[in-house]
Amino acid sequence: MFKVCIISCGMIANSAHIPAYRQFSEDYYITAVCDINEQAAKKTAEKHGIKSYYTDASEMLEKEKPDVVSVCVPNCFHKQYTIMALRAGANVLCEKPLAVTYADAEEMYAVAREEGKVLMACQSMRFTPDRLAAKEYIDEHGCDDFYYGELSRVRRRGIPFWGTFHMKKLSCGGAFIDIGVHMLDALVWLAGNPKVKSVMAVTAQNHKYEIGSLLSSGALTGNVDTQRPFDPEEMDVEDFSCGMITFENGARVSFKVAWAANIPEASDIRLIGKRAGIYLPEGKVYSGMDTEETLEPVEIPYKTVFAGHMYIADNLRRVLKGEAQPIIKPEEILNVTRIIELFYRSAELGREVSADE
Ligand SMILES: NC(=O)c1ccc[n+]([C@@H]2O[C@H](COP(=O)([O-])OP(=O)(O)OC[C@H]3O[C@@H](n4cnc5c(N)ncnc54)[C@H](O)[C@@H]3O)[C@@H](O)[C@H]2O)c1
Repeated sequence: MFKVCIISCGMIANSAHIPAYRQFSEDYYITAVCDINEQAAKKTAEKHGIKSYYTDASEMLEKEKPDVVSVCVPNCFHKQYTIMALRAGANVLCEKPLAVTYADAEEMYAVAREEGKVLMACQSMRFTPDRLAAKEYIDEHGCDDFYYGELSRVRRRGIPFWGTFHMKKLSCGGAFIDIGVHMLDALVWLAGNPKVKSVMAVTAQNHKYEIGSLLSSGALTGNVDTQRPFDPEEMDVEDFSCGMITFENGARVSFKVAWAANIPEASDIRLIGKRAGIYLPEGKVYSGMDTEETLEPVEIPYKTVFAGHMYIADNLRRVLKGEAQPIIKPEEILNVTRIIELFYRSAELGREVSADE
């Protein structure tokens, strides 16, 4: 039985991490949660029947000695708590984005290696019916020779307003690292993790006074227990971005990511390769002169929008028992992190930025 502790008790801890460990209760036992907001920690512990709660993560780690820790704090604290938990002897599931600089991600994985522990980033949105089907198809047909791709992640009105996603000093960035990172990660994973060469990005803020519902901004409504009041004047991150990523193999990917935009909602990945073109979420595969097929979506055994966390928790327990390899690999996350870093540097400098600068 693996002892689990959760660092921070916000939306994702309540909606995804705690239910994911509970799904596999034969292997995981959640002993404690913590949050700097005592009310959040107490509410979460009571709601899920968890024995202990803390306001100090180091005290919790010291007393509980967990085997597994979920790091669910705002992005800018991922590194500090991940390293704290690894050094305390725990394996770590850290929320996305693992980090926003390559150096930070590298350091986090180096500590995991030194401590002999598993560190996985919760890039949970690879595990959707259409993307799982596409991955199976690509692996089976060996057709990851993509030379062009497009990703669109667009919400109509979906600026997250329950936490601190809109504040750079806590979130490190906006829509691109909140929702764009899931698409980017999925695309890079599907394409066989080609290494990034350069990024050209443009960011903008267009709709900060127009927020939608909790659901339309990505939260499970019943799990936002200690909502921080949203003040648009605090918002200093992008709600829109677009640009182009170039990979070392010559492939190019154009992207468009928006928390709010006056076009239909989208979670689209389009990949064009020499042997096949793949359209998601439609699950269409195009090849040859006139061959078009529709992939059967993979059936997800978990009935929650955060099913990806279940895949990750299931994989982690098997990794810890020596039965599997991590499904989210350091080299994939390092590549994605490099893209994030180049993205923000390019937006700031107003020009294309290469990985080797
Ligand atoms: N994988 C996904 O699909 C997904 C979805 C939503 C959020 N996330 C990620 O999860 C993380 C948290 O998001 P959320 O929606 O739960 O946010 P949230 O605002 O609901 O919760 C954050 C919690 O962290 C606590 N906190 C803040 N600073 C802290 C500190 N220094 N130490 C300890 N606790 C602290 C806050 O009190 C709050 O309870 C973010 O990194 C976000 O990107 C991932």
